[in-house]
Order: sequence, then structure tokens, then C-alpha cells
Amino acid sequence: MRIDAKKLINAAARSRSRAVAPYSKFKVGAALLTKSGKITGGANVESASYGLTCCAERIALFKALTDGERQFVAMAVVARQDGGPMPCGACRQLLAEYAPAAKVFIADSDDLATVKAFTVRGLLPHAFLLAP
Ligand code: THU
Repeated sequence: MRIDAKKLINAAARSRSRAVAPYSKFKVGAALLTKSGKITGGANVESASYGLTCCAERIALFKALTDGERQFVAMAVVARQDGGPMPCGACRQLLAEYAPAAKVFIADSDDLATVKAFTVRGLLPHAFLLAP
């Protein structure tokens, strides 16, 4: 399957506009692509109890998983940050568990045409996993 990174980045940028980030004001959007071509978007949601905040990547992943999706081929992440936002360690762990074969595309919301490409395996080598 050919992955349309631009389309996925655009979906992540649209999701970013729905971020709920009243504390940090740092809006992040993510979009997950399944093998069958379905795209699920997500954005970060913050809490006054800061530690309860959830990243855009995990929101998108949890949405897709609870919609029954399992075969993920790519994720895009967009935020206003030079070079684009790199997924945090917690999100890398969840991606290693549920989207181990996925590519990860990153872009700055001010420059969606410049896309960096990674793999989940490359972002979290030697991940902690349990046999299901
Ligand atoms: N955030 C994400 O959504 N994804 C990341 O990979 C890193 C951080 C969010 C969490 C919080 O709402 C804001 O960015 C600032 O940390």
C-alpha cells in the first residue's frame, strides 16, 4: 500500500485545530492510518490536574483501537514547533505495542510541506513488550 504522507499530515493539522490545550497552549494534532485506508484523528486534551493531560498521539490511537482498528501503517503528528513535534516517550511505548510496523510523519504546522519520516521501531528500539 502506498502511504500518502501529505494527506495524513493534512488530517493531523485539521485535528490539531480541535486540541484542548488551555494551559500549555501547545496544540498537537495526530492522525492514524490503517491498512484499509481509514484515517482516525486526535488532538491533545489537557487537565487542570496537569498529569491527567493526554497527548494527541494517544488520543488518536485510543480512538482507533476502540473503534476496532488494529492494523496501523502510519501516524502523522503536527504542532507549531520548528522541525515538528517528536512524540513523547509514553506515546512511543503505546505505538510500539499497538502500531509496531507504522511509519511516523512529523511536520511543523507552519510548514506542512516539510515532512520528516521515522518508524516506530526507530523511535523506540528494544521496547518493553509482553506476550499477549
Ligand atoms: N503533547 C502531545 O500532544 N504530544 C507529544 O508527543 C508531546 C506533548 C502535548 C501534551 C500537552 O498538552 C502539550 O503537548 C504540552 O506538553
